[in-house]
Amino acid sequence: MYFVASKLSREISAPEMRRDYLHDNRLDLCVAYLQHVFGDSLKGARVIDYGCGHGDWALAFRRAGAEHVLAIDAAVDNVRYLHDNSRAMGFDGLDVVQGDLLSQNIGGEKADIVWLYDVLPHVPRPLALLQALRDLAPGAAAQFYINAYDAGSLRQFSVETARQLYPHPGRDAFDLDCLSLTREARRRGGDNLMVSQIEWFSATGFAEILSGAGLEPVERPMGFHSFQGAGSNTEFQPHEALCRGVPAEGAMLWEEPPREYGCDLAVLAAMAREVNFSLTDRQFRTQAAMGLLNTHFANLVGNNACSGTAMEIYLYLFHILDVHGGLRQAEGLARDFIELTEAALSDAPRRQLRAANHAATIARDLCESSIHL
Ligand SMILES: C[S@@+](CC[C@H](N)C(=O)[O-])C[C@H]1O[C@@H](n2cnc3c(N)ncnc32)[C@H](O)[C@@H]1O
Repeated sequence: MYFVASKLSREISAPEMRRDYLHDNRLDLCVAYLQHVFGDSLKGARVIDYGCGHGDWALAFRRAGAEHVLAIDAAVDNVRYLHDNSRAMGFDGLDVVQGDLLSQNIGGEKADIVWLYDVLPHVPRPLALLQALRDLAPGAAAQFYINAYDAGSLRQFSVETARQLYPHPGRDAFDLDCLSLTREARRRGGDNLMVSQIEWFSATGFAEILSGAGLEPVERPMGFHSFQGAGSNTEFQPHEALCRGVPAEGAMLWEEPPREYGCDLAVLAAMAREVNFSLTDRQFRTQAAMGLLNTHFANLVGNNACSGTAMEIYLYLFHILDVHGGLRQAEGLARDFIELTEAALSDAPRRQLRAANHAATIARDLCESSIHL
């Protein structure tokens, strides 16, 4: 095993990733998922784990029977961490390399499996990266696992709004600012706030980028989240694809995930615009971002809980505007919904109000219930 700190590489430091100890339970779960996705083809395979982070998957591949893993990451901290950790845990058959295929060639023996987990949304030129990865595994039987985040999800709304209110925090700043967050909001939201970029893909956009890189999806494996028995939630359904790098039989059709709360997202976006406009103080913006993350993650209980969560987020945004005096300035769709909410708060008649006929479930709730903030 060796550690190559390439001089050519753009050195990314990755303070955004926490130094968690990799527990055996977690490693076993990753192994089970890899076996579920790749079956017997894992045995003796040569694997590239690209954007390996702390390398949970790289280690899981070795434990699952892969003959050799080449783990690559652009962030020098991650590479050091995996190098030290894998040695401490007694792993062999693993090379850890710092590098970035977008700016340099990374050689090595050709791979049978390329693993790209939670990486595509964070690279500036995803198509170029996929093309470069395809060249590293040219065999007809080579397999590529790629996932991407789901555009149009409630998660996209909350994360993008929080990122706008609280842009590019450092790890130290976030550690102080996140003290009031629930564990889930701190973990998920923190990761999403800290990365320098996130791209969200529609199912069609994802299919197009794969095909643009000459990758043919042959299967859509169950996601890791669902595999762990957590069920699926329309709040966020990352796309997963197992691809071949050559024309394959049984090319797949892609459909957008159902979005029964699409109208609610339009209402939330209108409210978020007003919040973004009215909050000028950095401290209040930070508080609002944290509160939004908490509201999002604390309310996602059970499957398909999006409508209830969207309503809670809406009331939270309303509350911010109320406290900061932004209600009076709001315009357009936000204005209509604020009028409806004020009527719901005072239990006044509402059916004649403009927002009352809107298809959003938020509108239905505001028409049918009296609201307490
Ligand atoms: C969200 S983390 C995912 C880490 C890991 N795959 C996992 O699932 O735990 C994204 C990783 O991609 C790495 N990364 C981002 N852009 C990269 C690039 N252009 N080349 C190599 N690695 C990159 C980051 O340093 C980070 O470790």
